[in-house]
Amino acid sequence: MKKSIASIFILFLFLGCKSTLTTIPQKKGLVTEHAMVVSAREEASKIGIDILKLGGNAFDAMVATELALAVAYPYAGNLGGGGFMVYRQSNGNIGSIDYREIAPLAATKNMYLDAEGNIIPNKSTQGAMAIGVPGTIAGVFAVHEKFGTLPIETILKPVITLAKKGVIVTSKQEARIKEYQPLFRKINKDSIIFDRPWKTNDTIKYPALARTLERIMLNGKDEFYKGETAKILTQFIQENGGIITEDDLANYKAVWRTPVVFRYDDLKIISMAPPSSGGVCLAQIMTMIEPFDLHKFGHNSVKSIQVITEAERRAYADRSHFLGDPDFVNIPTDSLISYTYLTERMSDFSFKKATSSQAISHGTIDIIESDETTHYSIIDQFGNAISATTTLNGAYGSKLYCSELGFFLNNEMDDFSSKPGVPNMFGVTGGEANSIAPQKRMLSSMTPTIVEKDGNLLMSVGTPGGSTIITSVLQTILNVHEFNMSMQEAVNAPRFHHQWLPDEIRMEPKLFSPTTINKLKKLGYVINEKDSPVIGKVDGILVLKDKGLEGGADYRGDDTAVGF
Ligand code: GLY
Repeated sequence: MKKSIASIFILFLFLGCKSTLTTIPQKKGLVTEHAMVVSAREEASKIGIDILKLGGNAFDAMVATELALAVAYPYAGNLGGGGFMVYRQSNGNIGSIDYREIAPLAATKNMYLDAEGNIIPNKSTQGAMAIGVPGTIAGVFAVHEKFGTLPIETILKPVITLAKKGVIVTSKQEARIKEYQPLFRKINKDSIIFDRPWKTNDTIKYPALARTLERIMLNGKDEFYKGETAKILTQFIQENGGIITEDDLANYKAVWRTPVVFRYDDLKIISMAPPSSGGVCLAQIMTMIEPFDLHKFGHNSVKSIQVITEAERRAYADRSHFLGDPDFVNIPTDSLISYTYLTERMSDFSFKKATSSQAISHGTIDIIESDETTHYSIIDQFGNAISATTTLNGAYGSKLYCSELGFFLNNEMDDFSSKPGVPNMFGVTGGEANSIAPQKRMLSSMTPTIVEKDGNLLMSVGTPGGSTIITSVLQTILNVHEFNMSMQEAVNAPRFHHQWLPDEIRMEPKLFSPTTINKLKKLGYVINEKDSPVIGKVDGILVLKDKGLEGGADYRGDDTAVGF
């Protein structure tokens, strides 16, 4: 950031165009003194905070919040999915855990192609064949084993109580359930709990999920991977035409990974390494835009949008080619995020004209050898921070719901490139590095991120949104750092997204000035305001200068900050 002026940012400066723009809520984020949890549902944030009030740390609260989301936010919260968590302890130690799903042992490279080599519609997105081996329970138990301080019973009891007592349906949830009911009916042989005509303010109780969680509380992670739950789950998946076996579950392991760390001005950014593309892409984009004075250009100005778009275009082209599961492919991470490489990558950018994505391929690097997701952020009273993003992939995952166990199964297999060069459900085009192999992890965009400034914790941030995750996290950090916004303003601000292919800038509709849009079109940019009514649902926590905390809970969802 090449600037010194602390200017107050005004979100709606588009005089004369005002009538066409939607107004964004401007409420300030919750400010508390000691600790905070921000997640997609108030019930989950509250359970996380209650664990902290009992004396637990951010890792105990992570376990509670993750599982409470599985109860309160079945759209993406899960036992049948996976995720990533990045942490920074109060002493400055950093790390991350990968509890991403893996391909079943019986998976094959062409399992979603027909005899002619064409993709079989819906096979990687709907029903039992779309399911990757779930990682969430392994992830939370690994976190608890390494860093937890409270007994697992203390952490799980409030979650089980919530499942028994039930969760109130919000108006957004009512709309979502209604939207997906035709698919629930198509995919599930029997009627499921979400088939009913749920209305706002109804209470949905989850007794089957409560029983599953009770068994997990008593028997630990093995209950899910080797016990009665594993048997019920594999039988259910196979009866529905899937290929996951008891061996698949028994072999699953969460993996501790070294995060991607890079600098931007005086910030140190700590984000998720492969098999998420989040950290590498974020590092690439931020390094490419660092030489430009975004602050001077102004928030969502033509020039700022151009610089960010062009950096995104180049980073997503690399993502498609180089990134995959690091246990299967050699990823040249250091080269990909190096200043020299990225300076060269941006060298053909000009403010005069949009670069065409046809003209951009992946960069050349010498390799010696070879969507619906949910995010929560936690900072505890001891100064530990976690940033966790967890997913079933699509909304309600594969739509296949195991009524006996009380949860949806993911459709994460669609995050592999079923056929290199053909886009997945988020429109992201994948390459060979992300092809399917047994026990391989599919590439992700999840970008749980922690930011330090001058050696101190500054922010925990992340979001759902498939391929738009990376660019939403990027804009939120820039909004605070370059444009002096509060955490809540940074979360609320209108967002845009470019991902190389398709060659278009997606914008949240009616939030960008028509003048700006027209100028961008004249420069050769294609603008799409139709396909993304919402880009991301960012949740974050900012450490304030006076050492209090401000939560940013996205108004686009039912997201809520709770703290003390
Ligand atoms: N399934 C969304 C992601 O992992 O990026």
